[in-house]
This record gives sequence, structure tokens and C-alpha cells, in this order.
Amino acid sequence: MTNTELLPWGACLLSVVSLLGAAALPGRAIAQTSPAGGPQTTMERLYSTAQAGRGEEKFNQVCTACHVVSDLSGSRLREKWEDQSVGDVFDFISNSMPDGDPGSLTKDEYASIVAYLLKQSGYPAGDAELPTDTTILAKMKIVPLPK
Ligand code: HEC
Repeated sequence: MTNTELLPWGACLLSVVSLLGAAALPGRAIAQTSPAGGPQTTMERLYSTAQAGRGEEKFNQVCTACHVVSDLSGSRLREKWEDQSVGDVFDFISNSMPDGDPGSLTKDEYASIVAYLLKQSGYPAGDAELPTDTTILAKMKIVPLPK
């Protein structure tokens, strides 16, 4: 949202304080200005580092039998899933992988693997974990990295 918010006068001091807070933490400002439930992009800190770490472990246990992570991340991920959502990646992996035993991981495990792929693709981590709710995941658009 780019519109300036109209705050009641009583909230002025509070808004100055929160602006200072936002300036001190520029990385956090992006996620906080996203309207809850609205469209998001993969630049908006959709997963946590801890979650991606769990995904990396699972990936190495299950997926490296057939894949190397670099084939499924970075420019390969962006080309394959261009104009699609994180939900599309999650749906494909959770419905089709591992090949021969699809759906054998929990939803949390699939989400952590998607978090790992986002991390390996250069998208920034934040405080929140990538959810398993496909309605929410479908609103998270895969975008190019800024130049
Ligand atoms: C037994 C081998 C095998 C295992 C294990 C496996 N995959 Fe796959 N995977 C494949 C094959 C074969 C394809 C191509 C099938 C297709 O395109 O429909 C594929 C395709 C994919 C794709 C689409 C890639 C692209 O760019 O076309 C993704 C993403 C993927 N796998 C992720 C995973 C993840 C994550 C895991 C671990 C949970 C996993 N796979 C485990 C065999 C495997």
C-alpha cells in the first residue's frame, strides 16, 4: 500500500516511534506493510531460516536420490514456475514427489522443502514460516530477483 495512512492525532507520537523502529529495521518494514491476506511475492520474507534448515535436511534424506538442489532452484525455479505461485510449487511437490511415493511426507515437511528451495533461489528469509494452507500459498507470487 503506498497511500499515506490517516492517523488520529493521539496516534502521532506512536507513529513517530514506529517509523523510527522501521528505519532501524529496514528488512522488517516490507513484511509489515503487506496487507494481511493480500497478494504477496517471494521477496516478502515468506519463510524462516530454521524452516529452510529443516527442509534442507529432508531434501537431503529424500530428494537427492534423484535431484540436485541446483536443478530445482534459482533460475531453474524461476523459469519453470514463472508467473505461478509458491502454491503451485507446493502442490506439485506434495502431489507428485518423491516420484514413486508421492504424498509420503507431511505437509509441514513439504512446506519446509519449498522454504529451502526459496532460500536456495536467493529469496530472503524472515520471522514467519511458510504455511501449508494452499489458499494462502496460492497468493504468493514467484517474482524475479531485483537486479
Ligand atoms: C525416485 C526419483 C525421484 C525422487 C526421490 C524425487 N523426484 Fe522429483 N522428479 C523426479 C522425476 C522423474 C521428475 C520429472 C517428472 C515430471 O516432470 O513429471 C521430477 C520432477 C521434479 C520437479 C519438477 C522439476 C522441473 O524443473 O521440472 C520438482 C520441483 C521435484 N521433482 C521435486 C522433488 C522433491 C522436492 C523431492 C523430494 C521430496 C523429489 N522431487 C524427489 C524424480 C524424483
